[in-house]
Amino acid sequence: MVLQILLVISIILQLIAAGTAIKLMRETKYNFSWILFTVALTAMSLLRFGEYIQMVGSKELRLPPDFFVWIGVLTSLCFAVGVFYVRKIFTYINRLDIQRRLTERRILSTVLRTEEKERLRFSKELHDGLGPLLSSAKMSLSALSLDGADDKNREIVSNLDYVIDEAIRSLKEISNNLSPHVLNDFGLARAVSNFISRSMTLDAMKVNFETNLRSERFNTDVEVILYRVLCELINNSIKHSGGSRIGISLQYDGRRLTIDYSDNGRGFRPEAVLDTGMGLSNITSRVQSLKGTSTITSAPGEGMKAHIEINLHEEPWKKRK
Ligand SMILES: Nc1ncnc2c1ncn2[C@@H]1O[C@H](COP(=O)(O)OP(=O)(O)OP(=O)(O)O)[C@@H](O)[C@H]1O
Ligand SMILES: [Mg+2]
Repeated sequence: MVLQILLVISIILQLIAAGTAIKLMRETKYNFSWILFTVALTAMSLLRFGEYIQMVGSKELRLPPDFFVWIGVLTSLCFAVGVFYVRKIFTYINRLDIQRRLTERRILSTVLRTEEKERLRFSKELHDGLGPLLSSAKMSLSALSLDGADDKNREIVSNLDYVIDEAIRSLKEISNNLSPHVLNDFGLARAVSNFISRSMTLDAMKVNFETNLRSERFNTDVEVILYRVLCELINNSIKHSGGSRIGISLQYDGRRLTIDYSDNGRGFRPEAVLDTGMGLSNITSRVQSLKGTSTITSAPGEGMKAHIEINLHEEPWKKRK
């Protein structure tokens, strides 16, 4: 009796499994494998049904032994071919995944390129549009004759001269921040040195910047992205670390560009600041868009370290002449 109940349960379970396999047909490509599994599971439930009849039926109802052999062969065949097709499903999913990552990287690098193009355009507009106007205002002011002017007027003119100088200075700074012309003209190492000397004027931090780059030039994307990444790391150390030393090493070995960055500040737990700001996540996505790797390690009280590597050999990041 127990055996009969178990057989009935097993028939029901196999039919449910067959039904589930039919449903999966709609969800995946290569649904042929699911058809085969459905057939195999139904055949298995037929086998169980045959066994049940053997158990409860009278002598006349006995099924021929061939029935069990053929159904067994059909089940094995369906499972074997089905498994082969399931392997194809995994290959297909892997291919989709690679394609998705490639598309994501393409979108990211297009966004970054567009952003840099817009920055360059703003910077040029400011520099070439507003710059000459301010210079001409300054020239007109210096041509103004102050003979016979009283002290009050002299003070106003001197004030105006100072304001125009300040406006010219901050215009240059804004334009340079938007798109650093040193990067375009002299490359990564000079631009980073330049940024360090501009950022450190008021700060008590010491920066040790070492590089073996001389006049080598790389693809604009590589230079702009690594420049922005280093600027963000330096800004973070100034803003958040409270430390006194920053070490930067930028090395090129003919194949790879490697950055090793560290500060001796208060450190932080990287997993705890995931949604604090955009800086660190931008570093990761910018480096990813170059197919590079970035690792940021830090712990409270232990400063922070960042290691970034871009393989220039693998990608079309050719050197600029
Ligand atoms: N060098 C560092 N030393 C100590 N803490 C840091 C350092 N760099 C980052 N952090 C911590 O990690 C957090 C996230 O940094 P992230 O650069 O992503 O954002 P942010 O600098 O706060 O803002 P944003 O960069 O968007 O202007 C910071 O708020 C800070 O708490
Ligand atoms: Mg930041």
